[in-house]
Parts: sequence; structure tokens; C-alpha cells
Amino acid sequence: MTGQLRHMLRDDDVTHEEQKQILELGMKFRENRYYHRPFEGPQAVAVLFDKPSTRTRSSFATGVAELGGYPLVIDKSGSQLGRGEPVADTSRVLTRMTSAIVWRTFGQDRVEQMARYATVPVVNALTDEFHPCQILADLLTIAQFRGGVDALPGKTIAYFGDCANNMANSYLLGGAVAGMHVRVAGPYGYLPDPRIVADAERIAAQTGGSILVTTDPREAAKDADCIFTDTWVSMGEEAEYAVRSKPFWEYQVNDELMALAKPDALFQHCLPAYRGKEVTESVIDGPQSVVWDEAENRLHAQKALLTWLIGQQRGDDGLLS
Ligand code: CP
Ligand code: NVA
Repeated sequence: MTGQLRHMLRDDDVTHEEQKQILELGMKFRENRYYHRPFEGPQAVAVLFDKPSTRTRSSFATGVAELGGYPLVIDKSGSQLGRGEPVADTSRVLTRMTSAIVWRTFGQDRVEQMARYATVPVVNALTDEFHPCQILADLLTIAQFRGGVDALPGKTIAYFGDCANNMANSYLLGGAVAGMHVRVAGPYGYLPDPRIVADAERIAAQTGGSILVTTDPREAAKDADCIFTDTWVSMGEEAEYAVRSKPFWEYQVNDELMALAKPDALFQHCLPAYRGKEVTESVIDGPQSVVWDEAENRLHAQKALLTWLIGQQRGDDGLLS
């Protein structure tokens, strides 16, 4: 058995087949929360936060404990990293004590640097650029409601609002990896980086998916299987709320927009949500919303991801069977 150190820094760090393995494992954890305990010992997993969190913090802390491990949760204010200790030094210390490092931070370059110096898997728990753990949970939610992981390829997902943020980027890449038709709709000035669109298009060409970037919300919503949105103002941008929210009203997910999608379309939101802004109360609290299952699926998806990463490193396929 030869192990391989793998990281999850962006959604396309795994292939279509690998993403499928992780999601299948997530379905197993949904059925039995103690399906595997790879961190039995217990081994510590560092869970670091440079930004606030409710779901990511609670799901990783709970998940690592359920995997038999010890979640070492450290906030920016309580770490030397927060005082400016180099990421490389932090990585070289944590890697000697823990079995994995999970980090929510600002620039993608920071998680990349953490991974460069780590000898254990590093997981991106949200950067300014990507939120891959959320997309795994969102795909798991579609699998939960639509007949399993095999049902994902060919489905159409549509995201509305800030298409230049971490969620839009992750839907583009993660949806493409899954072989889905990914549509993102937002105003000029808030469309995705063409380099990410190009990456998503290249992946979609291999998996049978497709990518549509548009300023027309109706075009994006038409006959979609799942509708997504996210806050118009991401963490760190709060001071810009009044200015930033102006161009987004046309992209609000409301009953009219939902009516354009398939009649049984699901609604998902990574949360936290701002009712009356990016989504109306009637939608997020309505019959098509699956946001609480989506939040729960963070737990199952991340346990699956950690188990998969540890399985890769140990060269132990048994963890995946
Ligand atoms: N969706 C999400 O990542 O939520 P938190 O910011 O609460 O972790
Ligand atoms: N785009 C949001 C996602 C929160 C989970 C943010 O970065 O604040």
C-alpha cells in the first residue's frame, strides 16, 4: 500500500471519480454517523478560524469527534498566526502534532502555503476564493433528495447574486467536476474571474457538464433542478453593504424566480441568510427549501472528506469500502 498526501484547497483538487467516492462515503455517514473512525486514538485535527463561523466550526468539531479524533479548534485571536507568525512556521508545527489541518482564512495563497509545508492533509474551510466543503455538502443534499450520487451528472444547478465570490467559484468548479450543467447569474461587475470560468469549462468538457455565465436571471433559472444563492456581502465586505446590494435586486431568489425552475426544484443557501435581501422568506422557509438538510450535510460531507484524505495518505482503500 502506498500512501499519497492529498489536500482539498479548491473544488477541482479531486477528479470526478474521487468526488463521487467522497459523496458516496458522505451518504454512508448520513446513514450511520459512526460508519468509520479513522482518527481513533484519538488523533488531533487542527481547525483554525481567521473569520467567524457557526456551521463550519460546529460541523468540523462534531465531525472530528465522531471520527474518533480530537478537534483542536483555534481562533485567530488565540493564535500566534493572528499576530503575524508566518504560515509556513505554523504549518511546520501543526503538522508534527495533528493528523489534518482545516483552515478558514482570507487569501487562497494562505491555504496553499499551509499545504506546501504540511505533511498532513490541509482542507480549505473557506477562503475569499473558494468554499469546497460547502459544495460537497450541497451536492450531497441533491443526492439525498434526488436518488443518490449517480443522479448528479446531467442535473442543472443555477446560482444567483455575487458571481465573483467564493460560493460562485466553487459551484462552477465543483459542479463541473460532478458533470452538472452549472449556470451563474449576476450583474456586470460581479461576474466570475475568466480564469475560473475557463477551468470550469475545461473540466465540464471532460465530465459531460456545461457552464453558463449570464446577466439574465431568467435564462439561468429556466428548468433548473436546484436554485442557489448566497449573501450579497461576504465576510470582510460588511462596510460596503449599501453600495454593494444595489445591483443585486434583480437576482433575488423569490417566488417568481423559483417558478421558472422545474416545479420540484430544490432551494439551497449555504447560510447565513439575509431574508428579504438575496432570498425571500417565502422561499427559504417554503416547501422547496432544503437548507437545514444542507447544513446537516456539512457534517456528513466533511467527515467523508477527512476519511477519504486519510485513506489516501494511509494507502488504505478499506476506509472507502
Ligand atoms: N456556510 C458556512 O460556511 O457557514 P458558517 O460561516 O457559519 O461556517
Ligand atoms: N460568501 C460568503 C459565504 C459564507 C459561508 C462569505 O464568504 O461570507
